[in-house]
Amino acid sequence: MYQTQAVIQHKLGRKDTELDDCRWPEDGLHFIPDWVYTSQSVYDLELEKIFRGRSWNYVALEAEIPNAGDYKRSYVGATPVVVSRAEDGSINVFENRCAHRGAEFCRHSQGNTKEFVCPYHQWSYDLKGNLQGVPFKRGVNRAGGMPKDFRNEDHGLVKLNVATRNGVIFASYADNMESLEEYMTPEILKDFDVVFNGKPLKVLGYYKNELPCNWKMYHENLKDPYHATLLHSFLVVFGLLVAGNESAMIADSVHGRHGTMASAKKEDKYAAVSDENKKEMRSYHEGMRLEDERFLEYVKEFDSPWSVTMQTIWPNLIVQREMNTLGVRHIVPNGPDSMLMLWTMFGYEDDTEEMTQHRLRQGNLMGPAGFLGLEDNEAMKFVQEGVRRSTTDVNVLKLDANHVGTSNSLISESAIRAMYQYYRGVMGF
Ligand SMILES: [Fe+2]
Repeated sequence: MYQTQAVIQHKLGRKDTELDDCRWPEDGLHFIPDWVYTSQSVYDLELEKIFRGRSWNYVALEAEIPNAGDYKRSYVGATPVVVSRAEDGSINVFENRCAHRGAEFCRHSQGNTKEFVCPYHQWSYDLKGNLQGVPFKRGVNRAGGMPKDFRNEDHGLVKLNVATRNGVIFASYADNMESLEEYMTPEILKDFDVVFNGKPLKVLGYYKNELPCNWKMYHENLKDPYHATLLHSFLVVFGLLVAGNESAMIADSVHGRHGTMASAKKEDKYAAVSDENKKEMRSYHEGMRLEDERFLEYVKEFDSPWSVTMQTIWPNLIVQREMNTLGVRHIVPNGPDSMLMLWTMFGYEDDTEEMTQHRLRQGNLMGPAGFLGLEDNEAMKFVQEGVRRSTTDVNVLKLDANHVGTSNSLISESAIRAMYQYYRGVMGF
């Protein structure tokens, strides 16, 4: 009974707002309108202006396609693409849509091949997305077939521009994009290069989940250090990110679209939380201890003052380094109220077996059911439910008011403000 009602509410409950009615609240720094999370028209414009606009989108790691003929399915925004390595070693990204009748021709998530053949009419493409063969191109017995002026060169797959840095592959629909380095800005590149330092990567595994929330909520979540000290019992009790530790919420100072949430864990295994802070944090559980304390071990392997950096690289990449667990999360928008999260966990090729085991053990913090991932998933679902079905129409962003950009305090929303200032510029709101 309850479920049926929920389904009906879901169908009826979407608040759609046409673009003409999208007006940002007057105090634009401190309020976010609900329609950024709920409107189909806004979502469609985001795909055009952001994901197909002037952005570098994460698509894969080079370690996933090391050899000629290797390929992987991926997404740019909501658009399915294939990332492939050609015979000459080049990396190519093209839409997973046959140039003939639009079929999503590549059906395996990963593999090795000499060519791509569409299952529908067997048009075939090389590893760079060029059309190779069209069956019965000249017809049969001089009847049918393609017109004389049909040129394979005019019917290749839609190709994207590609850039890589230290084993990470990005693609863009836009021509004449600035370099990845310029795009990411020096502040963000600094911590990106700590994880991607040129050492060959070893993929350890994948997670994939759908989240019933707008894709921007995940960016906000990782530009919101306030929640990290409150929602996540694990971070608080075990001292991984505690109000009072040395921390920073860095926003890139060029655009405000990227961010790095960073913190330095103290040496002790469990957090030393002041009585004053304990009172503020309901998620602090005195005396909570782990059965297996190896989980909290931090092998110092990086040249960085931070034990954790969570980076949001606009528009679709999260680089996660929490002690020794490393990974990327790929955001795939899936309508205004849904997104896919594709997690790739990795270590380095030269890791010892012991280090690999340690990374895998610590990796339980992450993923759809990770000690941290789980709580964020649920919180974002609750927000989407709230904004979708209620009569109020704005969110409040008043922590550390008037401040936009990098903050040294965790009790701040200044990085979220920076992101929306950028977003409004790109979207024309
Ligand atoms: Fe979180």
